Amino acid sequence: MNFQDKLLDLSYKNNPAMHSFISKLPATPVSIFSRMSQLAQSHDAVNLSQGFPDFAVDPQLIDLVTTYMQDGFNQYAPMPGVLALRERIAHKYQVLIRIDVNPETEITITAGGTQALFTAIGTLIHPGDEVIIFEPAYDSYKPSVEAFGGKVVPVQLFAPDFEIDWESVREKITSRTKLIIINNPNNPTGRILTRKDIIALEKLVGTYGLYVISDEVYEHITFDGRKHESILFSPVLRERGYVVTSFGKVLHATGWKIGYVVASMHLTEEFRKIHQFNVFSVNTPMQWAIADYLSDVDYYASLSTGFQEKRDYLSTALQQTQFKVLPCEGTYFMLLDYTEISAQAELDFAIYLTEKAKVAMIPISSFYSETVNQNLLRICFAKEKSTLDRAMDYLLQI
Ligand SMILES: Cc1ncc(COP(=O)(O)O)c(C=O)c1O
Repeated sequence: MNFQDKLLDLSYKNNPAMHSFISKLPATPVSIFSRMSQLAQSHDAVNLSQGFPDFAVDPQLIDLVTTYMQDGFNQYAPMPGVLALRERIAHKYQVLIRIDVNPETEITITAGGTQALFTAIGTLIHPGDEVIIFEPAYDSYKPSVEAFGGKVVPVQLFAPDFEIDWESVREKITSRTKLIIINNPNNPTGRILTRKDIIALEKLVGTYGLYVISDEVYEHITFDGRKHESILFSPVLRERGYVVTSFGKVLHATGWKIGYVVASMHLTEEFRKIHQFNVFSVNTPMQWAIADYLSDVDYYASLSTGFQEKRDYLSTALQQTQFKVLPCEGTYFMLLDYTEISAQAELDFAIYLTEKAKVAMIPISSFYSETVNQNLLRICFAKEKSTLDRAMDYLLQI
């Protein structure tokens, strides 16, 4: 035994106090998005699986970030975020939906929507708490809840409408239920909750003293004149809720990982207690640049117009195929029913399409915790027309 082995022998191997490693998320595989993107890359397929735009960020915004960097805005931002940006956000709520949000005490800038969700869940959830989520569900909710010792109680929704039966939600509430997470507009279904849904949610939250996290990252991408119903409209939900959003979606810059959370003063104080030891603060020059860039609130309306054009372009083109397009009211995803094309299960068909037809999409079954097969794939249309055309060339050959 050499000297190093001897040291190891003394310090680790024979130490009865050594703990074996226990995974906090033993059943969490690599996400389906990474898997399909990898498969798309290795088969040179058009990647319409992961939700990111493939068009350029506005050069004016890039110039603003560069200018702030060159002007020395490179040190820590304040923990809750640059005040100018928080004021810009408050102004947006005031002008667009006539809601007053205090930029100092009710808005916190985060490192994207995912971190905001994780921190909000961590702020609320203690071991043993139950959390109701609606499936198909965005993939971060369940592992985030479980990382803090919570238990997810899924409510499954099904095509074609994915409507919520609020009575069946009420039946899932127990003395341990702490939180309901909603996502509106919804990824992957592309559906939007109505005022009736928000009222039903408000009733449950008020009656049972629950909390709510409302994932509103697609709030500005709604179609055909439909309005997004923020929980901020409801005084009850506003008092007991976190609203999570993402500039990645608003600025076509998903890699910038910047977003924010809106919550009442008390919930914000508690959120910041965790946030300051997790992220502390978010990158400075981008916050200043975004505050400048979003000075004109008309910008937000242009998002719906631009993405609706892309939705219509792709769904019209898909009419030449045997895919059936489900209604899409918002987000930059649509669901395609492939019943007329194949009897394969969703994951198998998604792999087949990527490998053989050279177009990658996401099986909807991957958004459920139990196996559900509805012959549905999610396709992302936040792409250049040339990318959509290339995908269509392939899909027309199936
Ligand atoms: C529903 C939903 N919530 C949250 C996020 C995460 O946002 P971010 O990229 O800012 O972390 C996404 C991103 O795709 C999403 O689709």
